[in-house]
Amino acid sequence: MRSLIDIIDLSTGELDELIGVAMDIIEHPEKYSESCKGKKLATLFFEPSTRTRLSFEAAMYELGGNVLSVTGGATSSVAKGESVADTAKTVSCYADIIAMRHPKEGAALVAANNASIPVINAGDGGHCHPTQTLADLLTIYREKGHFDNLTVGFCGDLKFGRTVHSLINALSRYSGIRFVLISPEELKLPSYVKNETLKKYHLPYVQTTDLEGAMPSLDILYMTRVQRERFFNEEDYLRLRDTYILTPDKLRHAKDDLCIMHPLPRVNEISVSIDNDPRACYFKQVLNGKYMRMALILKLLKEAQV
Ligand code: NCD
Repeated sequence: MRSLIDIIDLSTGELDELIGVAMDIIEHPEKYSESCKGKKLATLFFEPSTRTRLSFEAAMYELGGNVLSVTGGATSSVAKGESVADTAKTVSCYADIIAMRHPKEGAALVAANNASIPVINAGDGGHCHPTQTLADLLTIYREKGHFDNLTVGFCGDLKFGRTVHSLINALSRYSGIRFVLISPEELKLPSYVKNETLKKYHLPYVQTTDLEGAMPSLDILYMTRVQRERFFNEEDYLRLRDTYILTPDKLRHAKDDLCIMHPLPRVNEISVSIDNDPRACYFKQVLNGKYMRMALILKLLKEAQV
């Protein structure tokens, strides 16, 4: 049974295919309005979410399907001590596909190994978040038209930011990509991500603490929230949370066609005065996420049938 746990589960050709379907959905939504008639998506979210869960649910409704939902462990049998494996087996009896978010790294893989229906990882702890990457890729594609030869800056919490790990993984396949990793010392990209992607594919990257110094070279700037929920103590979080705040002043030396991204939610990382700047793409990312999740649900359900 085909699931999506990590973005590397999808080949470059499949990423192109999903982008192609999403673009067709954008142009001809009516063609897809009954594609998932009679099918059910179960959203199992054991961590807070607004965009990811609602975009999965909106995606399924727009495909003509239905949704079953568990939000927060407190209202499900997880609160009684049920394992992820048993939950996955149970939900397989009711639904056709699962989207799951869980605070533990690897939880989606455990679910996929026990479910008899496709499982989509909607975020597993600080590990990865492949469907946010699909949203990010469609945004880059629509803004830039290609993935090659881009200088991509990631700024903020690169240690715990799962969306960063997945997007770096995905972009590593394209040629001429350069990464600028901007973070405080304590929140640097984990060495496993560096070793499995940047070093393995000999990709050029620099690590810096200086956002303004990096700005002029960037085609994409991917801001992130400091992931409070993954910190072991509140003091460290309070010390680090406002290290980078993007203000209009900091964009003075940025390219005119810079694409400013953020997976959201934003806390304080981007001043609201940037929201009307034509380079701000973070709300476009939100919408693109729905189209890519529609394309993904279609693909996985189709593959499950054969
Ligand atoms: C991200 C996540 O959950 O990892 N949010 C999202 O899904 N758009 C980013 C974050 O929470 O900071």
